[in-house]
Amino acid sequence: MKHAFVTGAAGFIGSTLTDRLLADGIAVTGWDNFSTGQERFLEAALQQPRFRLVRGDNLDLPALTTAMKEADFVFHLAANADIKDGWAHPRKDLEQNTLATFNVLEAMRANGVRRIAFSSTGSTYGEATLIPTPEDAPFPVQTSLYAASKVAGETLLSAYAEGGQLDEAYIFRFVSILGERYTHGHVFDFYRQLVEHPDRLRILGDGQQRKSYLYVQDCVDAMLHVARRATAKGAKHRTQVYNLGTPEYVEVNQSIGHICAALGLKPRLEYTGGDRGWIGDNPFIFLDTKKINATGWKPKLTIEQGIIRTLRWLEANRWVYERRK
Ligand SMILES: NC(=O)c1ccc[n+]([C@@H]2O[C@H](COP(=O)([O-])OP(=O)(O)OC[C@H]3O[C@@H](n4cnc5c(N)ncnc54)[C@H](O)[C@@H]3O)[C@@H](O)[C@H]2O)c1
Repeated sequence: MKHAFVTGAAGFIGSTLTDRLLADGIAVTGWDNFSTGQERFLEAALQQPRFRLVRGDNLDLPALTTAMKEADFVFHLAANADIKDGWAHPRKDLEQNTLATFNVLEAMRANGVRRIAFSSTGSTYGEATLIPTPEDAPFPVQTSLYAASKVAGETLLSAYAEGGQLDEAYIFRFVSILGERYTHGHVFDFYRQLVEHPDRLRILGDGQQRKSYLYVQDCVDAMLHVARRATAKGAKHRTQVYNLGTPEYVEVNQSIGHICAALGLKPRLEYTGGDRGWIGDNPFIFLDTKKINATGWKPKLTIEQGIIRTLRWLEANRWVYERRK
């Protein structure tokens, strides 16, 4: 890989990946429409001569195709990453996650770019019957528009790869990601509430939902590790799917315990009730990561360490709450 094209380069994960690629001596074209991305996340990258930022939207195929000209590898991270509000705007996931992925693949085809890594999600397993859930779990029933749109994106990738239009297609199904530049998710919401009123905390559901979390640098490590090893080369299929997660999970209540201990607070806990936080929330997400572990990758941080790092970053960067309301 000499020149990477990163969609969603100004986002939480995309900007972290961009910094890592540049540090590894790889040229990067960052592509973002700044719908949720933050210019401040690219401050360091913009100082680097090997970095070029192009403002543009995945739905604009001609501009996307032009911007991708120099690339030999695409990391496709741009998406509507908000699961909770899917039913407020049902077309959004289809456009931003499925059609956008189609455009990225068409722009690659036009430019002869034949390697891609795609950020999918553990939510694609719906309410899995097999836990920890392996990549080849029985084809799941979808429980959110977000996950449905990601499954559609995954299937497009595999059709392009198996149809000879790509050499390597890597699909990464992430658990929830935590760490520096984190701008959405439960730690973000809980910290905001505790700054506003340290004596009480409102929790969606009964707090017994079990979730797995992965530290953002570990997530980026895993994608680069697989891309470098080119694990799809010589394999039966050009499409390789990897779960990315930690070998542990926590209850939301445990996570609250870590957050409150770190902040020295004892708020009154107010539960909205029910075994899930919102329509499409899966009460137990825990992925089997044996496949990626067998390639030699494992996470460096525990979930608790990831939560604490996230919290410390939010404390030092309260400006993100003004930007992402
Ligand atoms: N954060 C997580 O816990 C998590 C978990 C599973 C999967 N993912 C996936 O990882 C990827 C990155 O997520 P994130 O947490 O960094 O989210 P994010 O919202 O911080 O980043 C997404 C970036 O894409 C950009 N973008 C959105 N639509 C665009 C478009 N049409 N054209 C160009 N740019 C566009 C946004 O401005 C933003 O910079 C997403 O695909 C998401 O679905 C994230």
